[in-house]
Amino acid sequence: MAAEAVNAPFLNDVLRGLSLPDKAIPARWFYDDIGSELFEEITRLPEYYPTRAERAILQDCGPDFARLIEPGRAVVEFGSGSSVKTPLLLNAIRPAAYVPLDIAGDFLRASAATLQAQFPDLPVHPVEADFTKSVKLPREVAHLPKLGFFPGSTIGNMVPAQAVDLLRAMRETLGAGAQLLIGMDLVKDPAVLVAAYDDAAGVTARFNLNLAARINRDLAGTLPLEHLRHEARWNDAFARIEMHLVAARDIAFEVAGQHFAMAAGETIHTENSHKYDRYSQTLLLHAGCWLPRQRWTDREGRFSVLLAEAAAPHVAP
Ligand code: AVI
Repeated sequence: MAAEAVNAPFLNDVLRGLSLPDKAIPARWFYDDIGSELFEEITRLPEYYPTRAERAILQDCGPDFARLIEPGRAVVEFGSGSSVKTPLLLNAIRPAAYVPLDIAGDFLRASAATLQAQFPDLPVHPVEADFTKSVKLPREVAHLPKLGFFPGSTIGNMVPAQAVDLLRAMRETLGAGAQLLIGMDLVKDPAVLVAAYDDAAGVTARFNLNLAARINRDLAGTLPLEHLRHEARWNDAFARIEMHLVAARDIAFEVAGQHFAMAAGETIHTENSHKYDRYSQTLLLHAGCWLPRQRWTDREGRFSVLLAEAAAPHVAP
């Protein structure tokens, strides 16, 4: 393995995570090319309702958005990815500009170009940035009021402390007078939730196991994939689905020359997907310096989209 080819942040996270008493690797490492394609496949699965439910809300609530979001805002999409839900929003309101923010530059520019072709009159300013920190937006939109857009319940992949930090960073990026439209998945029957993260076709299992395969590919790992199995569990105390890679028997392996072992039944915790109710949403948004103003759910009450406004500093009595 050539030294310059190693993804150092990935290696650090994996070595640190595998050395913890409860092994854990940050979920952001799922998304190499194979993982991103598998995630796209997940969004089309019959059991994975969040994407369809959120799209239904965005489709049905266009007139509400038009009423509550005044024309002339710059729409700033956080982690825009393929921007597939964006046209539903842009068609409903009258934005002055669109600013997709993503860390993956090539993907960002390609999807910005696709969107620009769909909205030829809308100024589009892609920004390659880590949106978990405050981002300096392009000077062309500096004078415009902002609408942040964060669909997909990606906020749910963060533990509450990280989620609050992110919401505060968004508040700083977007400035005074900003609005935020955010998708948040809802607590529901654990059987429905577990099925959404452990589908019959095994796509989510492949998505989870691809993380181990990626460690083998990119970090000279020897994880025995045939002795690891995917598990999705509902953690009721933390209101979240957890994904784990479970050792089916005692195993030993190496990553970049370091030795690790797992006893049968031991797991590597690979993802959290928090689910919310009205009260936890309100509390989270308030903690992140946003005041919830309007909330929509799909007809089956599975998923929600919230509109919030940037809180002024020191709003408490
Ligand atoms: C990206 N994120 C919102 C997905 C979720 O539902 O937590 C990731 C995912 N993991 C397994 N299936 C989907």
